[in-house]
Amino acid sequence: MEKEFWKAGNMLYPLPAVMVSCGRQGEKPNIITVAWTGTVCTNPPMVYISVRPSRFSYDIIKESGEFVINLSTKKLVKAVDYCGVKSGREVDKFKEMKLTPVPANIVSAPLILEAPVSIECRVTQILELGSHHMFLAEVLGVHADKAYMNEAGKFDLSKSQPIVYSHGEYYGLSELFGKFGYSVKKK
Ligand SMILES: Cc1cc2nc3c(=O)[nH]c(=O)nc-3n(C[C@H](O)[C@H](O)[C@H](O)COP(=O)(O)O)c2cc1C
Repeated sequence: MEKEFWKAGNMLYPLPAVMVSCGRQGEKPNIITVAWTGTVCTNPPMVYISVRPSRFSYDIIKESGEFVINLSTKKLVKAVDYCGVKSGREVDKFKEMKLTPVPANIVSAPLILEAPVSIECRVTQILELGSHHMFLAEVLGVHADKAYMNEAGKFDLSKSQPIVYSHGEYYGLSELFGKFGYSVKKK
């Protein structure tokens, strides 16, 4: 096995590509697609999103201190891309992509009804890293679409056909290779 050595760059793929909804009182809500996102703590449940200060959504999230992470699916992939190339400065992304804003339980930002999972988040810290500022946030509550509950009452996200983002392309998840801990499970 021979590997090339490349200069430093972002090569951690695949990643989720989520639609982050945000909003300020008295204004139309907006959506920004974010791939620089992840879970950073189990208890308390915490996540991050990294956003360039030049984005229209940046000031909204900074001033409101809140946002909602909406998971993406095959059905939503066009909206994921659109919300990642168009700015809320010029278009109403909810309207253009026929997405439905629904009031959240706790935060001021709306959920996207069509997403299988929406995660209400409150910013706890902003780390000004460089090109991107990282919004570290606590998860306040999660909305899960009942359509993806199986007979046993367990949530089955795979039924929603989730997508990932890798090297500029969107992919589905096609095959199940194992389950958590299966490598050490006694037969
Ligand atoms: C797949 C994908 C992932 C993206 N990830 C990020 C990201 O992590 N952070 C960011 O600041 N912009 C990211 N962008 C770019 C923004 O979504 C894009 O600039 C968007 O138009 C900003 O919208 P706004 O001006 O309405 O806030 C991504 C775009 C795409 C298509």
